[in-house]
Amino acid sequence: MVNIAVAGGSGQLAREVIDALATNLHTIVILSRNPPPSPPLCTTPNITNATVDYTSLPSLTSALSSHRIHTVLSFIQPLSDPHGAAQITLINACVAAGVHRFAPSEYSSAKTTHLPFWTSKSLVGSCLQQINTPDPVLEYTLFQPGLFMDYLATPYQTSKHITPLGTPFDLENRRAVVVKGHEDAVLVFTSARDIAKAVTMMVEYNGRWPEVSGMRGGRVTFGEMVDICEKLRGRMEITEVEARDLERGELKMGWGLERKRECKLECFLLPLCPFSVVSGAKLSRASRDNRKFPKRR
Ligand SMILES: NC(=O)c1ccc[n+]([C@@H]2O[C@H](COP(=O)([O-])OP(=O)(O)OC[C@H]3O[C@@H](n4cnc5c(N)ncnc54)[C@H](OP(=O)(O)O)[C@@H]3O)[C@@H](O)[C@H]2O)c1
Repeated sequence: MVNIAVAGGSGQLAREVIDALATNLHTIVILSRNPPPSPPLCTTPNITNATVDYTSLPSLTSALSSHRIHTVLSFIQPLSDPHGAAQITLINACVAAGVHRFAPSEYSSAKTTHLPFWTSKSLVGSCLQQINTPDPVLEYTLFQPGLFMDYLATPYQTSKHITPLGTPFDLENRRAVVVKGHEDAVLVFTSARDIAKAVTMMVEYNGRWPEVSGMRGGRVTFGEMVDICEKLRGRMEITEVEARDLERGELKMGWGLERKRECKLECFLLPLCPFSVVSGAKLSRASRDNRKFPKRR
């Protein structure tokens, strides 16, 4: 058992992971910019809270040192840390405090080209590569699960903490968006519950972390996905959009991808479409392997 700090631990995916880690009795410190809410989010005795200032290297270093943290898992919302400043200060604090392992707030696909709102992920990845050159100083891994599978059930909520979010496959209203000529493009989905299990297994894994930890709950093409939707819901209305429009950030279709969850940043709604659609067409090499734990479903 090691001491784990969870940055952004009040967030949605973080809480799924904390629940999984807490079941295995890990000692967890939730790092937050705010004092703990009352009543607290978690009442388990092995979970404590620390209020931190992500603009202060000494504040972060002291929080990590005083709790003798071995592993830091970050879930900091990249939309409100667009240049990765909070995570980069956190990485520097990890090095200063002698933390052994760090997992940044990645949880995406292998490449984030066409996803300008996720630029911070590549900035943070580059920072981790740089600080480990020429000699390794902080073991790290980028968890890449593809799209949260839970979103396919929108408007229903299938996990405890991940709230519904629209995707190009709107099963409720029997309609879908596909990119013209890219029906064979591959999509990777993993449920939040499986992501949480996989992160827990990697925390407990004694070997050296690989720089990338791909995971894959399901892998389908857009065409196969439409077939599955039709089996479940009957005939779907299909809208075809042009890849070149998406690449320009334009989504030419008659219906919007609704986001059920309140979002501080309005801009999330539009790029969400290129995220799901273009990532299927071009980016979903992600999450291609479960090689470390091939039998785990
Ligand atoms: N692949 C997918 O389908 C998919 C879908 C959604 C999310 N994700 C990824 O999963 C990760 C977690 O996302 P999430 O939706 O669970 O996050 P979230 O709930 O929106 O936020 C996580 C936490 O980040 C902290 N935070 C927000 N702004 C911050 C800032 N400027 N500086 C420092 N901390 C800040 C907040 O904690 P405090 O206020 O307590 O400090 C918040 O609770 C992200 O990397 C996201 O991109 C992937």
